Amino acid sequence: MLRYFVAQTAPTTDKMPAETGTDIERAALLLKAGKLVAIPTETVYGLAADGLNEQAVLSIFKAKNRPDFDPLILHVSGREAAFSLAEYVPVKARLLADAFWPGPLTLVLPKKAHVPFVVTSGLDTVGLRVPNHPLTLSLLKQLDFPLAAPSANPFGYVSPTTAQHVLDNLGDKTDYILDGGPCTLGIESTIIGFENDEPVLLRKGSLKKSDIEKITGPLKEKINVSGNPKAPGQLAAHYSPKRKIVIAEPENIGLLQTLPRPVTLLTFGNLFQAWENRVDRVLNLSPEGNLAEAARTFYGLLREADQGPESLIVTGYLPAGEMAEVINDRLQRAAFPFKNTSHE
Ligand code: TXA
Ligand code: MG
Repeated sequence: MLRYFVAQTAPTTDKMPAETGTDIERAALLLKAGKLVAIPTETVYGLAADGLNEQAVLSIFKAKNRPDFDPLILHVSGREAAFSLAEYVPVKARLLADAFWPGPLTLVLPKKAHVPFVVTSGLDTVGLRVPNHPLTLSLLKQLDFPLAAPSANPFGYVSPTTAQHVLDNLGDKTDYILDGGPCTLGIESTIIGFENDEPVLLRKGSLKKSDIEKITGPLKEKINVSGNPKAPGQLAAHYSPKRKIVIAEPENIGLLQTLPRPVTLLTFGNLFQAWENRVDRVLNLSPEGNLAEAARTFYGLLREADQGPESLIVTGYLPAGEMAEVINDRLQRAAFPFKNTSHE
């Protein structure tokens, strides 16, 4: 398999910034012609192309500067369309689909022969998801092919949760941006694979593990935090702003004196209350300390922290709660390799 062929491709584009709007017919026409359209979902925005058209799929990798070892998810309008792309569907996959689609769940299943290997990075399995967003669902219903769509950000950078985020980073590499408003969940889908028909958690996400376990029983986890390209997707460094992030313990306020200024504090509720009037800027994921709100605001505030006068970003792991764990996973990857506390 080619390694990093995308990363080595010179950035090319004299394209005008994409138009943003809610014209599904236009989006459908462009996609049928093999073009790229950014689509809203309940989790994050995706950069979509015809998932059965190899050239169109390759142009996603090129636009994102995404390495070829990181497979894409195919998005479809419903369960029948999804399972028509799978060679085999374990019973528990059907139960999960019934319970959570449309929704923030991706199922990794053995692929049918007509699913191109460019989508799956050479794997015999394919990620399938029915996103829960009215605009995108009606778009998918107009198409007779699935949409391959990774998150619509340059590879490694913070995921987009508004049409503006897509425009900011990939505006000149996208043919149209379908604007479905801010994403309601804000963190990527939960990914489940199967081993001997038993579900395995591959990526934590917006669908809570405990909700999945109500259907499947105890879930095995195979989350790979590494820089190993053979571990699809779960790269240690990911979702990262350009600026340095320091992950601090709220008790360790003495740390502030040792840090270069200015400092932007990315906080949650009153976690870092004692720090707030001693830093240069405060961004709060949820002043009320609500984890669902923090998930929704997380990527947007990371982007905001990455803008304005050059600044160090100081933040901390969120306290107890299932969604806290999921957000902390993203935070850890965003901060890599700068993290100064261990968290596993
Ligand atoms: O919420 C989401 O899942 C969003 C929206 C746009 O649907 N999409 C998204 O895609 O997060 P992306 O490309 O940023 O992450 C896709 C990840 C890959 O990095 C990989 O970890 C996993 O999905 N994946 C896809 N196909 C796989 C496969 N066949 N085997 C294992 N993992 C797979
Ligand atoms: Mg992504």
